[in-house]
Amino acid sequence: MGSCRVLIFTLSLLLLLFPVIHGWGADGHLTVCRIAQSRLSKAAADAVNKLLPEYAENDLGSLCIWADEVRFRYHWSSALHFINTPDLCTFQYQRDCKDEDGLKGRCVAGAINNYTTQLLTYSTAQAEYNLTEALLFLSHFMGDIHQPLHVGFATDRGGNDIDVHWYTRKQNLHHVWDRDIIETAEERFYDSNVEQLVEAIQKNITTEWADRVKGWETCNSNKIPCPDTYASESIKAACNWAYKDVSQDSTLEDDYFLSRLPILNLRLAQAGVRLAAALNSIFG
Ligand SMILES: *[C@@H]1O[C@H](CO)[C@@H](O)[C@H](O)[C@H]1NC(C)=O
Ligand SMILES: *[C@@H]1O[C@H](CO)[C@@H](O)[C@H](O)[C@H]1NC(C)=O
Ligand SMILES: *[C@@H]1O[C@H](CO)[C@@H](O)[C@H](O)[C@H]1NC(C)=O
Ligand SMILES: [Zn+2]
Repeated sequence: MGSCRVLIFTLSLLLLLFPVIHGWGADGHLTVCRIAQSRLSKAAADAVNKLLPEYAENDLGSLCIWADEVRFRYHWSSALHFINTPDLCTFQYQRDCKDEDGLKGRCVAGAINNYTTQLLTYSTAQAEYNLTEALLFLSHFMGDIHQPLHVGFATDRGGNDIDVHWYTRKQNLHHVWDRDIIETAEERFYDSNVEQLVEAIQKNITTEWADRVKGWETCNSNKIPCPDTYASESIKAACNWAYKDVSQDSTLEDDYFLSRLPILNLRLAQAGVRLAAALNSIFG
């Protein structure tokens, strides 16, 4: 009995110390929001400044993981961070955008549409929704939908059930893409400083990728944002890069890290550029 209680206590303590976090880690989300906030029109920048709580000091990045922190308080929101496909490398809204109970529209693509629609009421001053929360959800989900394994296979829960070694550490594949690739890149190339990573990506947005940025910002449907496009890109990247050559208990080292890092940098850049485009369109 006694040892059982100790075990339960220890497990609870571990859960408290290491909550399951869904989505890019703090640095991934911060990067996306920093890039986005630097690209806002005057009207969008003013609206964001008004909607952010005062303690955020007009820094969207500081609240970009708010949506992860409220996942337990707002239990209904936990299905809104991801999409599971039926183990196919394609995304179809009708087929895939639902929660565990099969409720339609309850996935990250549906949530992006939802909070975009709410924010469009900003100028009409109809306070039906809390638009501070709508802004924080939209900013977070635009990041999540660009993380390739947030649009992953149902059977392995977006890589959560694939155990790997990240160099010598035991980890799961989902976590590798949420955090480990970014953290290893920061340690190796950016003095363990996320601001330097943000700067490096921003530089490439104006050089390497300059002629592709217009294409990222626009949608075939003429409706900005276009989450179905972002989700399709993510599951394709998941199949071509994240899952590729990985199986249960694989060890992932330099080969994997160095070949996947450019994909991850690109996804962070696209998420930031597109979040800015969405906010500029909404508040424009
Ligand atoms: C839409 O937003 C409201 C308010 O936050 C929330 O209650 C609802 O679950 C959301 N639905 C989706 C699909 O995002
Ligand atoms: C809107 O949501 C924020 C964050 O949850 C909260 O701090 C604030 O009090 C809410 N505003 C209203 C008017 O309910
Ligand atoms: C920026 O582009 C250069 C040249 O392609 C590349 O070597 C570097 O890794 C890129 N950095 C980021 C953060 O995308
Ligand atoms: Zn998330």
